[in-house]
Amino acid sequence: MERLCFLNWVSVVGLLGCVCVCVEGLGVNWGTMASHKLPPDVVVKMLKDNGIKKVKLFDAEKSTMSALAGSDIEVMVAIPNDQLAVMTDYDRAKQWVQRNVTRYLFNGGVNIKYAAVGNEPFLSSYNGSFLNVTLPALQNIQNALNEAGVGDSIKASVPLNADVYNSPQTSPYPSAGRFRSDISDLMTQIVQFLSKNNAPFTVNIYPFLSLYGNDDFPFDYAFFDGASQPVVDSNGIPYTNVFDANFDTLVSALKAAGYDNMTIIVGEVGWPTDGDKNANVGNAYRFYNGLLPRLAGNKGTPLRPGNIEVYLFGLIDEDIKSIAPGNFERHWGIFRYDGQPKFAMDFSGRGQNTYLVAAQNVEYLPAKWCMLNPNAKDVSKLADNINFACTFSDCTSLGYGSSCNGLDANGNASYAFNMYFQGQNQNELACNFEGLATLTTQNISQGNCNFSIQIASSSSSPRGGSSASVVASLFITLFIFLWQ
Ligand SMILES: *[C@@H]1O[C@H](CO)[C@@H](O)[C@H](O)[C@H]1NC(C)=O
Ligand SMILES: *[C@@H]1O[C@H](CO)[C@@H](O)[C@H](O)[C@H]1NC(C)=O
Ligand SMILES: *[C@@H]1O[C@H](CO)[C@@H](O)[C@H](O)[C@H]1NC(C)=O
Ligand SMILES: *[C@@H]1O[C@H](CO)[C@@H](O)[C@H](O)[C@H]1NC(C)=O
Ligand SMILES: *[C@@H]1O[C@H](CO)[C@@H](O)[C@H](O)[C@H]1NC(C)=O
Ligand SMILES: *[C@@H]1O[C@H](CO)[C@@H](O)[C@H](O)[C@H]1NC(C)=O
Ligand SMILES: *[C@@H]1O[C@H](CO)[C@@H](O)[C@H](O)[C@H]1NC(C)=O
Repeated sequence: MERLCFLNWVSVVGLLGCVCVCVEGLGVNWGTMASHKLPPDVVVKMLKDNGIKKVKLFDAEKSTMSALAGSDIEVMVAIPNDQLAVMTDYDRAKQWVQRNVTRYLFNGGVNIKYAAVGNEPFLSSYNGSFLNVTLPALQNIQNALNEAGVGDSIKASVPLNADVYNSPQTSPYPSAGRFRSDISDLMTQIVQFLSKNNAPFTVNIYPFLSLYGNDDFPFDYAFFDGASQPVVDSNGIPYTNVFDANFDTLVSALKAAGYDNMTIIVGEVGWPTDGDKNANVGNAYRFYNGLLPRLAGNKGTPLRPGNIEVYLFGLIDEDIKSIAPGNFERHWGIFRYDGQPKFAMDFSGRGQNTYLVAAQNVEYLPAKWCMLNPNAKDVSKLADNINFACTFSDCTSLGYGSSCNGLDANGNASYAFNMYFQGQNQNELACNFEGLATLTTQNISQGNCNFSIQIASSSSSPRGGSSASVVASLFITLFIFLWQ
């Protein structure tokens, strides 16, 4: 990002020098639920090339942490929900802190700032599974950090979904925000503990989901360009976007609990680019193009003017994420699966029409696609084969409102076959489909719909399959399919 840095240098020369090309406090979420991961060192170089200084993780994988070592990037490490129960044992929490935090705190190690305890553990859809374990786990992790002598600089927090608070229907305004009544006592105890340790409250806010869940939601209110009728709070404060209104609902809930000065971090905010009628590059561009200048201008919200620490969600598309919430789940990246930026996005917050720097030295598989054999005679088994391909690969771009929804039946088949074939690292056995498929070296992308070439699996990732295990899994999936 030489150019941005240079511009920045010019504009602030004599003041601070080239200290930050990025919106202050801006971070990104680096999730790794991808079938073909970019090598961690390639990702870290991409973060640096774009001046990204903070990253939030969903675990504390060794390969990720090793790549981050020496980078000076501030890191939020995390304990996944399924590990919360064991962390209610203080000795296990101490072990986690030793193995995943303090061991990286050497000179040239990892700049760890936060430990996330769970990820949205109180989502209503979890049916209360983590209600009893989250607070004890939080306490144990912070206490273990304190005991290790690093509690002053490393804070434990629980990234929570915005559904932990709301306003009553009788007064649907930010100023009436309270913690959800079923967890109100628990939330107060959590906030009390965070406050005692000077730790922040972490919340994930998704204007896209407000829109997704509700066809009556005023479309423009999801964005920041003020096109909609403001919602005027009972105290007279006008709200022009749902992000501010949501954030201030939390500010009010904290205030009502007696903690009006608690620091709030936005753990996730972003917009997906495929998998729903509102998930596309145009809307994502509009969303970020409104968000970033506001963050750069330290505008804050009506109840909390000033700088907000924000982590964008997310960095790279993740093609094996659960699609229980919707097909869009696999398309949150500001970069595609291969580290290519999807749209113009200016991290300096000046609204310049520049693209982020792509990942460097990415290795692709050869330019080969799998498609429906135009000479296939017996197509009676086509539906079964498409179904098989889509069960074991990512066909979310075929759905209603998505980038490949306009394909005809043949295009659908080819898309599905190609996704499976690429997912199996172009193993030729994976482009047969009972004789219905054939290989091609012609780029069969159509219009907006990309028939992609997969990247070579990251060899530095311990979970990246060897070719032997890929072939084995291929036979296993075929076996399962044939016996259905
Ligand atoms: C450290 O983190 C890794 C990755 O999240 C996890 O698998 C491991 O169990 C953790 N170590 C301990 C001692 O809890
Ligand atoms: C929560 O309960 C619903 C309905 O009883 C069920 O369908 C769902 O699988 C449960 N989810 C979890 C995470 O236990
Ligand atoms: C949580 O604890 C309460 C009270 O001890 C108990 O009734 C409930 O079953 C527990 N919930 C879970 C999910 O373990
Ligand atoms: C919150 O911070 C403001 C400004 O720093 C201060 O005036 C106020 O007393 C604080 N309130 C509480 C409850 O600590
Ligand atoms: C293509 O597949 C999608 C998703 O499975 C489906 O909604 C659409 O109807 C299919 N189109 C045709 C022409 O078969
Ligand atoms: C295939 O064509 C699409 C659309 O023109 C293009 O975006 C993509 O980069 C091409 N893929 C390759 C591997 O050349
Ligand atoms: C397809 O790929 C091209 C670049 O090769 C990109 O410009 C375009 O946005 C992609 N389309 C989708 C829907 O991802």
